[in-house]
Formats: sequence, structure tokens, C-alpha cells
Amino acid sequence: MSGTSLSAARILLIIGGGVAAYKALDLIRRLRERGAKVRVIMTRAAKQFVTPLSAASLSSEKVYDDLFSLTDEAEMGHIELSRAADLLVVAPATADLIARMANGLADDLATTALLATDKKTLLAPAMNLRMWLHPATQRNVATLQKDGALFVGPTEGEMACGEFGPGRMAEPLDIVAAVEAALAEPTTLPLPPVARAPRDEKPLAGTHVLITSGPTHEPIDPVRFIANRSSGRQGHAIAAAAAAAGARVTLVSGPVAIPDPPGVAAIHVESAREMLEAVEKALPADIFVAAAAVADWRVAEIGANKLKKGSSGGPSLKLVENPDILASVAQSPSRRPAVVVGFAAETENVLAHARDKLLKKKCDLIVANDVGEGTGVFGGRTNLVHLVSKDGVESWPSLDKSEVAARLVERLAAMRDAAK
Ligand code: C5P
Repeated sequence: MSGTSLSAARILLIIGGGVAAYKALDLIRRLRERGAKVRVIMTRAAKQFVTPLSAASLSSEKVYDDLFSLTDEAEMGHIELSRAADLLVVAPATADLIARMANGLADDLATTALLATDKKTLLAPAMNLRMWLHPATQRNVATLQKDGALFVGPTEGEMACGEFGPGRMAEPLDIVAAVEAALAEPTTLPLPPVARAPRDEKPLAGTHVLITSGPTHEPIDPVRFIANRSSGRQGHAIAAAAAAAGARVTLVSGPVAIPDPPGVAAIHVESAREMLEAVEKALPADIFVAAAAVADWRVAEIGANKLKKGSSGGPSLKLVENPDILASVAQSPSRRPAVVVGFAAETENVLAHARDKLLKKKCDLIVANDVGEGTGVFGGRTNLVHLVSKDGVESWPSLDKSEVAARLVERLAAMRDAAK
């Protein structure tokens, strides 16, 4: 199977306490080389064998290890941690961890995440061969298999304790192959549906929500333009979520390759100036969300004909600043919507720039995200955002863009109610 099947896959790796834990570090590296995002939980025993710092530097993520840490719970609860993954991998899976899983115990973060998940789990057992062959372990493995857990290994060989037989953890590359095979199948467990707590189904009924989305194209001549990498996915998802929440939605979209969401009035534009004009026409609105990646500059003089190659090198383009749509709506003396939200796509100092924008543009909320190289946010399906308002910063875990949209719409409804 090709390595590309792992690109953008979200793996939650649970490292158990055994000598083979050092191989789990190599596993992180192998998974990431293939494009997977790896989050790590370490059991208390695992930390006797490898350090959280090594796992954190290899995964480039915070390592989770304490169920009752308040900061972790605020940042990301254990339920979220296991649900946000496509697959859970336990390596090494010790006899003790296997026994606790088979019995549904949830007495630390690792077993709680394993019990709370709605995704499949792949186990790479590693233990002394007597422990592996013990009827209790074999019974537990059979129970887990019946529950849908997948296994890779153990393999036979000389063990750290000097004995020979089955019990060695599978090699990292074999675990990677098993992960790829697991991801090729549906990884959501066939669980009974969970009823959601009843909530206000249409919190935005009677509200007009105006949203900009996508990039702008700034013409150079009749055939060329300046563009950016925005896909419009996040803005369109917000439009869809607002419509689902009962709002009347006007979506002003730059050129995108995705369809208009159902139930919204979509207006298609190319340039920043056209976007501003369409937004002004669509006002008044109760809520304005500027999710578009508007080009900061446009070409001062657009060529009437296609520019030709000359003998004196390339043409030099003079750029002039585009109107700031968000700032002009937020600062409109007569037509400012009750709630104005901007986005800040940054590659560095994300929060500082977001705070700056909140004040300069005079909006009520900035949704900030890191779109630096390797984050996969532009065009990707997930987003990691921080909500910056005058009240402070709230960071959300990495979520599907549709989930970011749904949560944001709930927030917009609350902000609109507070502004009344
Ligand atoms: O200043 P910056 O472009 O980083 O600000 C981003 C926010 O401002 C986004 O919400 C974007 O939609 C909005 N914006 C705008 N018009 C511009 C530039 C940005 O509405 N010309």
C-alpha cells in the first residue's frame, strides 16, 4: 500500500509502559514521515522508559499524560482527544493495558481515551512470552478482538529478559503497514447512536448573516490575475451552519472550486472591490463574518490587452492597496451589524497579530489560525483556531472545518443575544 494513504490521517498513539516503548518513538517518526498527524498519550509506566519530551519533539505536539490536569481539560478534554482521531494505536500494548481495556476500566487518561472513543483501536502487544501465552491475556485479547480491536504482532524472537518466543513488539514499519490497512477500512466503531442533549434547534432564526468567503482574484490583464490559496471551505461551512441554524444567509464568495451551500443566497465575485460592492449591497445584516482571504493589493493599472514578453525583462507591476471590507463594515457609522467577526490567517505570532486586528479593525471577535507551511489549513479539512475577543483568548482543538463552523455559529447566536 502506498504511503499517501496516511497523509493527513490523525493518529492518537498511546504508549504503554514496556521496554519496547523506545520503538514507539521511531513509530511516531515513521507515521509523520508519511504525512500523519500524531498525538501522544503516555501512561505513567511509559514515562519510566521514554520521556514525554522525546515524544513531544518527535510529534511536534503536546504530550498528554494526566487525566486530571485542569489545563489539559480546558485545552482538550479526553473525549475530544479520542474522538478527534481517525485511529487509536496502542504501542506497546502491555499485558496490564490489554487487561484494563478488555474489562472497560478507565482509571487513567490512556484507558479513559480508549473507552471514550468511537474509532477503532490497533494494538501492538509487547510482553514477556509467558505473560502473552497466559490464558488470562489470551482471553483478554479474544475479548478485544470480539469488540473490534485490531492487532499487529507480537512477533517471535529473543526477549529483553533473555527468553525466546512470542512477545516482541512488531517493528515500527510493520505497525505503519497495519495502520495503513486499518485506515483503508471504515474506522468508526458500529456503536449505537448517542442522543444529543436537546438544544435550541434554530438559534439564528430571524437573523440575517452576511459572510465573505474564498480568495479574491486581482486582474493583471485580461488573462492573468493575482490569487491566494484560500479554498473557501471554512467560510462556506460557516454559511451552511448558519443556514442550518435558521439564519437568512448571504454568502459573498470569491472564485472557489466548491459548490454553494444549500439554503444560502450566494453572490459570486472576483476582485476585492467587487466583494466590497456586493457586501455593501447586502447590508444591513445582524451578523457579519469576514472569512474571505481578500488580497491586500491590486494592480494599479490593469492591462487592456494581454501583456507581451518584451526584450527588457519582465514588466514591473505597481500595486495599490485594496479597500478593507471588514474594517469598513465594522466602522460603518450607520450600518454596523450587531456582531462583526474577522479571521486572521497568520504564519507567525498568531495571537499578537489577532489582538492587533481586533483593535485596529474594531470587530467583536477574531478567529485566528496558523496557516504556516505544514499546517495543511489552507485547502485542508481541519482547522485549529483561537477565538480572540476583548474578554481574552479561547483555543479550540483541531477540528473539522464543519465542526468549527457549527461551534462558531453557536457562539454567534450567543453574541447576538448579548448585543440585544
Ligand atoms: O488584515 P488581514 O488581511 O490579515 O485581515 C484579515 C481579516 O480582514 C479577514 O477577516 C478578512 O476577511 C478581512 N479583510 C477584508 N478586506 C481586506 C483585507 C482583509 O475584509 N481588504
